[in-house]
Amino acid sequence: TNVCKAAIEGAIVATGYAEIKLQRALANYGPDTEVAFPTTGYELPFISGLGGDKVTKLGELPSVLNKYKKNIQHKYDLEHAKLAGETTAIAAEIIEALKYVEEEKPYEDEIYMGFVNDKILREYGIDLVDFTIPGEAVIMGKADDPEKLAEMINELQSMGILTFLCDEVVDQAVDQGVKMGVEFYTLPLGHFTQVVHAVNFAMRSALAFGGEERGDYDAVLDYIRERIRGFVIALGDQDEVEMAAQMAASHLGMPTITNQDDVEEIEDRYIVEEDYDEMVQLGLELRDIHIEIVDIPVPITVGAAFEGQQIRSDDMYVEFGGQRTTAFELVKKRDKDEVEDGNVELIGPDIDEVEEGGQLPLGIMVDIYGRDMQEDFEGVLERQTHHFCNYGEGLWHMGQRDINWIRISKEAKEAGFTIKGIGEILYAKFKSEFPSIIDRLQIRLITDQDKVEEKLEEAKARYDKRDERMEKLSDESVDVFYDCTLCQSFAPDHVCVVTPDRVGLCGAISWLDAQAAYEIDPAGPNQPIELGETIDEEKGQWEGCNKRTEKESGGNVTEVNLYSMMESPMTSCGCFEAIMAMVPEANGIMIVNREHGGQTPVGMTFSTLAGSVGGGNQTPGFMGIGKTYVTSDKFIQADGGIARIIWMPKEFKEQLEDDIKQRAKEEGLGEDFYDKIADETVGTAAEEILPYLQEKGHPALDMDPLM
Ligand code: SF4
Ligand code: NI
Ligand code: NI
Repeated sequence: TNVCKAAIEGAIVATGYAEIKLQRALANYGPDTEVAFPTTGYELPFISGLGGDKVTKLGELPSVLNKYKKNIQHKYDLEHAKLAGETTAIAAEIIEALKYVEEEKPYEDEIYMGFVNDKILREYGIDLVDFTIPGEAVIMGKADDPEKLAEMINELQSMGILTFLCDEVVDQAVDQGVKMGVEFYTLPLGHFTQVVHAVNFAMRSALAFGGEERGDYDAVLDYIRERIRGFVIALGDQDEVEMAAQMAASHLGMPTITNQDDVEEIEDRYIVEEDYDEMVQLGLELRDIHIEIVDIPVPITVGAAFEGQQIRSDDMYVEFGGQRTTAFELVKKRDKDEVEDGNVELIGPDIDEVEEGGQLPLGIMVDIYGRDMQEDFEGVLERQTHHFCNYGEGLWHMGQRDINWIRISKEAKEAGFTIKGIGEILYAKFKSEFPSIIDRLQIRLITDQDKVEEKLEEAKARYDKRDERMEKLSDESVDVFYDCTLCQSFAPDHVCVVTPDRVGLCGAISWLDAQAAYEIDPAGPNQPIELGETIDEEKGQWEGCNKRTEKESGGNVTEVNLYSMMESPMTSCGCFEAIMAMVPEANGIMIVNREHGGQTPVGMTFSTLAGSVGGGNQTPGFMGIGKTYVTSDKFIQADGGIARIIWMPKEFKEQLEDDIKQRAKEEGLGEDFYDKIADETVGTAAEEILPYLQEKGHPALDMDPLM
């Protein structure tokens, strides 16, 4: 079926029917008989709002109908179909108005409401135009699966969408026990032309709350298209008049989603979707409606207030990752069909299958489909898992990517919190914080060892891909850097300056990520820094970075050198992937990564060091960094660069092997420089490694004194 053609023919039928009814009414009651809907100040609202015709008497109706009838032409295109739809709505409003001429209360004994009065308008219309009510749905026709229909209405109710029902679906919903009435945001209009009451409700909202003048055709239509985010769901076979009504909706900016299999779709306006479960979601997406999730179904409190809270090993029930088990987190953009919105799934054993104080592997996979979602956004969104998890009282998160570490407290477990709850929190938070880019979201939590390992490969490939894109950029090739103040909930003075050559110290925010984050949320925690005057090229000091750091640290840090750890180094929060520390005895520095549990040549383990480095302070000689900064060509260039590295844990060194060798070559240190770097197999105290460095001829020993 061609919808445009059907709509034009439907308009002819509808106007013909209205004409007959009107003539009969005129013959029976006379032209001076009053015509009005009960309890409204807007006469016949659609007629009045659209063309400014303030009809109060029967005798005024024929000229109105004729005025719009002229717009019906046998041109089967979208423009003419929409005008035919408009005429059909005029005709329908006349037909409905005549019922109130014949009877004072035409719907009294039925479940149908008919005209929706101004009291309801005042109560709900304002919420509709300021999006407190996120949208409006009109369901018409007959469902071939009444249970699915009921599910659909329940879903709309749970989202707080104002839903109008018309035709058989009303009776079907009643049979299914669906709750009905204004308090349930579900209005059963009637059986046929009553659908026009959804239209005149929208019209009155524009007049009442938009302040549009009656008859200001373009302004009124624009207001409705913009502010009433409605859509139509047409179930079962639709006749020509119904299709005409749907084109009237289209004229008001409301698309129709139908399960008829024999109609020609009109892009973004008349869409075929045979799966009941998908129809509402599609409507939301077409109208860009985003539902705020207020109640997160978990037995613990969720809020930014809990972000700084720690969970010590004594208080923990179960932990994941943290080098004890395989774990990772991955946010990935997916195709529409791959994502079932709201699906939160646990694959593998749950919390009650481990003993208190136990461990499980965990893969967190966040799958996103969005019309405006970009692959570039993945990294930024993924970083949010850190913060969102920490919002849960009794939930703790550290690290990122495949070195994350999560704990659930005993208390949370006692309250009934399960692993799935992590997914519920992430689902709710992602949906409400990033409504403009996330249309569909599903969360998979994997605690099955084999499956975690399998998916870890997918995640690693993704991390690599992101890193590769970054490698092509350098600090000289860009005009702006970005700051990151995301961690100020932990470390209020901390500011990361993120540049192409220096990833944020968590390793999770690259310059590209910061740029993407700024694009997603221009008022968010990543703001561009105009560099301004270069104060010291060698040390990496710019006027712009100084000013921003001063502002964001509340005046506590006034100068920052991006390429030095000895003089005005960047501050550290607590999220660093690795810590660098000077080893005065060797005139060099050591770097220890978070994963390394053992002793280091400065006499402290990673966690002891972390305690003295973090918190948003500048601590010359010590600095938290993202791993990839080690092999950046700006790596502490003011302090002597990569040649200063005298010790790293073996595993960490091996992770960076190729890049270290490459950088050493570039710096004229020779490829064997890699072997000159000591590790824990050589020793974990300065005096143990010094002989090794001397024997190998480590370049640091001959460099200018570090301090
Ligand atoms: Fe941002 Fe730095 Fe925190 Fe990473 S460590 S989230 S870059 S402030
Ligand atoms: Ni953080
Ligand atoms: Ni941090």
